[in-house]
Amino acid sequence: MIIAIDGPAGSGKSTIAKELANELDFVYLDTGAMYRLVTLKALNEKISFDSLKNIVDLSENKNNNSDFEIIQNMKKILENLNIDIKKNRFFLDEIDVSDEIRKPVVSENVSNVAKIKQVREKLVGLQRKFSKSKNVILDGRDIGTVVFPNAELKIFLVADAMERAKRRYKELILKNEDITLDEIYKNILERDKIDSTRKESPLVKAQDAFEIDTTFKTIEEVKDDIKSLLRKSAK
Ligand code: CDP
Repeated sequence: MIIAIDGPAGSGKSTIAKELANELDFVYLDTGAMYRLVTLKALNEKISFDSLKNIVDLSENKNNNSDFEIIQNMKKILENLNIDIKKNRFFLDEIDVSDEIRKPVVSENVSNVAKIKQVREKLVGLQRKFSKSKNVILDGRDIGTVVFPNAELKIFLVADAMERAKRRYKELILKNEDITLDEIYKNILERDKIDSTRKESPLVKAQDAFEIDTTFKTIEEVKDDIKSLLRKSAK
């Protein structure tokens, strides 16, 4: 069985998905973390993100020399990608980078990596493989629309953008990140914009997804809403 939880940054997806998976004895897959792992790899490889943001398809013939080089480097990164997930910890080239992938520098660049067609193809393939013959809750942007359009239950979480920024601010301050609420708010708006307007698998609500606005709800209330939808869908 597949439960798909989609929605914009900070809408509560990962907290809800993680807790629900524990309670329902499902496996949890945080697909956003996978895009973050590829972004971290590209940052480590010193890919120029200024140029990368204009590239959405690595098979395009670009005449510009610097673009050609970036395309080749991104292809190499994807071919040799070595990522792993064990017990909700994330590994890049065998190293645990679970904290690093949440850093603002990754958040600032991830949407430009996630809009590249071949990045999505690669990660969607891994997500499907990972979920084979298991009960899985996946959270992301395109789970109910592209990765598992036949998921048994689809949830679309939304929340007011400032509320989402405040939630993320609290998380990052606990990790001693040097960042302001305003910076996070701007990043969230920017990511919402890139994620919802991109050509490949944009962030949209699946037609048959249930939308839950989490702005004024507690985590428990959202989980209860989803559990009751689950009971109804099982009937
Ligand atoms: O946790 P947060 O909402 O900040 O984001 P995330 O779930 O870690 O996802 C980071 C980024 O990865 C998103 O802003 C999207 O650009 C991308 N993403 C995606 O394109 N498709 C997914 N299924 C999951 C994430």
